[in-house]
Amino acid sequence: MARLDGKVVVITGGASGMGAATARRFVAEGAKVVIGDLQVEKGEAIAQELGAAATFIRTDVGIEADVKAMIDLAVEAHGRLDCIFNNAGFGGVAGPIDQTDMGAPYASTVACLLTGPILGMKHAAPIMKEQGGGSIVSTASIAGLRGSSGAPVYSALKAGVMGLTRAVAVELAPHHIRVNAICPGVIVTPIFLFGQQPKAGSNVSVEEALRPGFRNLQPIPRAGEGFDIANMALFLASDESAFVTGQAFVVDGGLTTTMSVVGDVANSPIAAAIADLVELPAWMQAE
Ligand SMILES: NC(=O)c1ccc[n+]([C@@H]2O[C@H](COP(=O)([O-])OP(=O)(O)OC[C@H]3O[C@@H](n4cnc5c(N)ncnc54)[C@H](O)[C@@H]3O)[C@@H](O)[C@H]2O)c1
Repeated sequence: MARLDGKVVVITGGASGMGAATARRFVAEGAKVVIGDLQVEKGEAIAQELGAAATFIRTDVGIEADVKAMIDLAVEAHGRLDCIFNNAGFGGVAGPIDQTDMGAPYASTVACLLTGPILGMKHAAPIMKEQGGGSIVSTASIAGLRGSSGAPVYSALKAGVMGLTRAVAVELAPHHIRVNAICPGVIVTPIFLFGQQPKAGSNVSVEEALRPGFRNLQPIPRAGEGFDIANMALFLASDESAFVTGQAFVVDGGLTTTMSVVGDVANSPIAAAIADLVELPAWMQAE
C-alpha cells in the first residue's frame, strides 16, 4: 500500500520547483492531485506527465474566487479533500526597508505569500471538518525564522505563515485537522531567476546551474532539492503525522544550526576578525 493511497491533495505553486516535485511524489504515492498555479503551460505539462491522477487549474492564490474554484474542482472530481499544500510563492518586493515599494509590488507579495495560505485554509477547513479530518501544509521559509538583509517583507510574511499555522492548528485540532508548515532552506528552484528568463546560451536547467553554487551553503554538502521538501510534505500529508500539528519543520541541510560559518572555518569572517587579536585555535586554522 502506498503512503497516500485514496487521498486527494491540492498543491499550489505546483507548476515548478518544490510544488512540482511534491506533485510527482504524491502521485507516485497514490494520491490524486489538483495543481493550482499562475503558469499555465508548465502546470498543464506537469499534469499531462502525471496522467489521470493530476489536474491543473490556473489559479492566483491571492484571489479568493480562484482558490475556491481550485478546491471545488478537487471535491467535484474526486469527492473529497484530504490535504492542501499552500506552497505558491515568489521573492516578491525586496530591497532595503527604507526603499520598499508600497504600491502594487507590495500588494501582490502580501496577496501571494500570506493571503494565499489564509484563503487555502479558509476554503479547505469546511470540507475537512465535514469529512472529520485532513492535513493543511504551508510553505514558510527559514527567512521567517532568521534575519537576512534584502528581503524584510518576505521574511515577515513567512513568519506570518508560521503564526497563522499555529493559530489555525489550535482552532482545527478538535476536528482532527492538522495544520503544519515547512521551512525550506536554500533549494535549487526557478525562484532564483527572480522572474527573469535565464541568459541566452545557457543550455542547462535552472536546477543544474544552481547546484554547484548551493552545494556548500549548509553543513550537509549538497544542494537542497525540491524532493527534500516533497519528502517532508509527504510525511505531513500522510496518516503518519496524525498526532503532529501546529509545527514548522525546517528542511535546510543544517543551515540554521550554524553560526553562519559553514565549512571553511579558517577563512570565515570570525577567523579573520580574531586573527590579529589571538592565535587562532588549531581547529580554526587552515589545514
Ligand atoms: N527555493 C528556495 O530556496 C525557497 C526557500 C524557502 C521558501 N521557499 C518557498 O517555497 C515555495 C515554492 O517556491 P519554489 O522555490 O519551488 O519556487 P518556484 O518559482 O519554482 O515555484 C513557485 C511557483 O509558485 C507559483 N506562483 C507564484 N505566485 C503565484 C500566485 N499568486 N498564484 C499561484 N501560483 C503562484 C509560480 O508560478 C511557481 O510555479 C514558495 O512559497 C517560496 O517562497 C523557497
